[in-house]
Amino acid sequence: MLQKRIATRGRVCRRQHAWDVAFGWERNCGGRSRSPSVFDAQTILERCQTHSERVCKLVAKSAVGIDLGTTNSVVAVTLHGSTFVIPGPDNQRLTKSVVSYLNDGSHLVGEKARVQGLKPNSDTFSSIKRLIGRRRCELEERMYELLPFQIMSDSPDDYATLVLTMQRALIRPQDISADLLSALKTSAELYLKEKVEDCVISVPAYFGPSERDATLEAAKIAGLSVLRIMNEPAAAAVGYGFGKAEEEFVLVFDLGGGTLDISLLHIGDCVFEVLNSAGDNFLGGDDFDARVLDWILDGCDVEATRTLLTDANALFTLKDASESAKIALSSQDSVEIRLEFPVEDGRAVKIDKTLDRTTFEEISADLVRKMEEILRGVFFGAQTAEGVNVDEDDVEILLVGGGTQMPCISDLILRTVGKAPKKGLVSADEAVAIGAGLTASALVGDIPRDGIILLDETPTAEDIQLLGEKVESIIDQFDS
Ligand SMILES: Nc1ncnc2c1ncn2[C@@H]1O[C@H](COP(=O)(O)OP(=O)(O)OP(=O)(O)O)[C@@H](O)[C@H]1O
Ligand SMILES: [Mg+2]
Repeated sequence: MLQKRIATRGRVCRRQHAWDVAFGWERNCGGRSRSPSVFDAQTILERCQTHSERVCKLVAKSAVGIDLGTTNSVVAVTLHGSTFVIPGPDNQRLTKSVVSYLNDGSHLVGEKARVQGLKPNSDTFSSIKRLIGRRRCELEERMYELLPFQIMSDSPDDYATLVLTMQRALIRPQDISADLLSALKTSAELYLKEKVEDCVISVPAYFGPSERDATLEAAKIAGLSVLRIMNEPAAAAVGYGFGKAEEEFVLVFDLGGGTLDISLLHIGDCVFEVLNSAGDNFLGGDDFDARVLDWILDGCDVEATRTLLTDANALFTLKDASESAKIALSSQDSVEIRLEFPVEDGRAVKIDKTLDRTTFEEISADLVRKMEEILRGVFFGAQTAEGVNVDEDDVEILLVGGGTQMPCISDLILRTVGKAPKKGLVSADEAVAIGAGLTASALVGDIPRDGIILLDETPTAEDIQLLGEKVESIIDQFDS
């Protein structure tokens, strides 16, 4: 049934072919273009000059895709069909989603902010995406305890507001996100040498209306005009499937720092249809870090634990060390954790422990079980809900998000779906931004506008998001 629906929309992106030729993309004998390559900007600029007769000039005003992540943010842009990642304020492809406010009223963003957070007396904020557009009552007690800053509320609706301790002031999560977005915007402008205003921002599929609204507000404060808010798994699927003619089922498993997002899509011939999605906005790498943090403190005396948990910079350092240990355990069997925190009277709390992967997997087993339930629901639920029959041989699994590098995730997928995910089908860190960049480009008409037709859902209602000129005709087909 689904295949028939898709087939009725069948068409080939002929204009895309023209761009492929201009940029020397390889085509196989079946007439399929390969997925867009990620070139660097210099290559693009050189190619533009080489093909100056065929390509008039770079677009006057670029629209960028922004993956505003809990842990890392990435900006991508598509110029004439090729997508590349724009380095952020640290001159790195990934920018740490950390903002630190200094006493003189200035602020730091990215790695410099992270380093500032390790120093005493700093107002440093990370994982803000977990708080944006959230009421305090939605946050778990344990989360309050582990955040290296205080949460209050000065809004009648009880939305979370954060405390700038040194400046004795309050700041809203969307203001912090705006400072991050503003730094990303400036980097993009410096790199592209033009004003950047239009953007597509990706959010977790399970973000509700208030989180989406707060994200839009952050963008507005940063001087960005949001062409579209896009669900992250759909963006990753676009990053993977753009330009592919063949139909296939794609399971996107996106485990980031804050959220788990799983979607099953049918893609092919420019149409990206989300069949089923589920996720958890409070199930991500941060939760694994919290398990390691608990394990580190387990065995410390009660007084020392209390001191560390009430000191913002000690907490920031503990969280940072827990994350590093977790990351190390993806590629090694054990990791040493050595920390020292000065306390009163010249004394210090010393931690010297070794965590092995088996213990790490034991202390986080319940998180993996939760993921398994969600994955089962998405993969097998689509078969009943949509009446499609997808078995493991028919589905391509995309591992997205830094958290998928944990060996327990591949094991979980193999156990549940019956197929081991292939590594490297997409860049786990960049696929979402690349899909958002392609979509932004389609919306401003820099790539063929019928190159991406996205059928996705928002949490409030089934909201078909269609890009491009084929909108009317497809709606007609649905109606008839
Ligand atoms: N090699 C690794 N092993 C385990 N975890 C890793 C590894 N590399 C990164 N991570 C974790 O991945 C998470 C960050 O991933 P990513 O950058 O995809 O998240 P994000 O996009 O910022 O978050 P979200 O999508 O939830 O908003 C962090 O928790 C980080 O510790
Ligand atoms: Mg992400």
